[in-house]
Amino acid sequence: MDDLGWLKQQKACHTDIKIPPHIAVIMDGNSRWAERFHHSRTWGHHQGAQALKRTVRACYLLKIPYLTLYAFSMENWQRPKEEVDDLMELLVMYLRSERSELKEHGIRLHVIGNLDLLPLEVQQEVMITQEFLNNSQGMTLTLAISYSAREEITRAVQTIAKQVSIGHLEPEDITAEVIGNSLSTAGIPDPDLLIRTSGEMRLSNFLLWQMAYTEFYFSDSHWPEFNAKLLWQAITDFHNRKRRFGQRVDHQPNKGHIVTQLLQKPLVTNQEKSFLRA
Ligand code: FPP
Repeated sequence: MDDLGWLKQQKACHTDIKIPPHIAVIMDGNSRWAERFHHSRTWGHHQGAQALKRTVRACYLLKIPYLTLYAFSMENWQRPKEEVDDLMELLVMYLRSERSELKEHGIRLHVIGNLDLLPLEVQQEVMITQEFLNNSQGMTLTLAISYSAREEITRAVQTIAKQVSIGHLEPEDITAEVIGNSLSTAGIPDPDLLIRTSGEMRLSNFLLWQMAYTEFYFSDSHWPEFNAKLLWQAITDFHNRKRRFGQRVDHQPNKGHIVTQLLQKPLVTNQEKSFLRA
């Protein structure tokens, strides 16, 4: 049985498992994986791209509504030019080769990050792919490219400050919701589960605002080895977590209504349910 067949079987056997509606992934360890086999970094990134394809397939098979992948950080621009060029080329190849399959499975593409810094060819492929997948109703795949959470938050603050300076917003009207709506992830629920591979345990400037209550799962496997079984392990681990959002589940004072709402919020919203039923 192949990996996806195995995953299908797991899902069918564990109908009560809590599948996180939004999974975010820091795909780490391509170069270390390549080193282990005395291959080049380029080879490692190519293997990483295969793992990325496998993960997208596994997530749409599980009908996960949101998948967010950290594909290229703002800090990654500091890597040697050949490596940056390789990663940009891989991105173009990925978008060109996968968009038909993404459409077939109703996947929408959202891209976050400072896209102005990307080579024109990459910007064009991103635009073409987004337009091509425009009417999709299924999973939202978000790629973070040339992304920095601190930059994203800084931009949001600038946008809000401009609104205040022209009198469209009062300082006391700036709420967490206003800030969330000014980020590039506006309209996308916060990640429920973050997976980071290759044994590193840090956030590396990824979705700092959005991950306030995200559950973290660290895997020792390097990203190129990531597969349906490792994904299922992470989901099983998530299933066993008790999410309290800072409160005691047996004591919910009236004043804590915002947190209480979070606690009572079903794991899957109605919109997500209709997608799951489709
Ligand atoms: C970490 O490897 C990963 C990245 C730099 C970004 C993720 C890139 C891919 C999965 C390649 C394919 C991407 C697309 C969008 C098709 P690393 O070199 O930092 O590994 P290390 O931690 O072992 O040095």
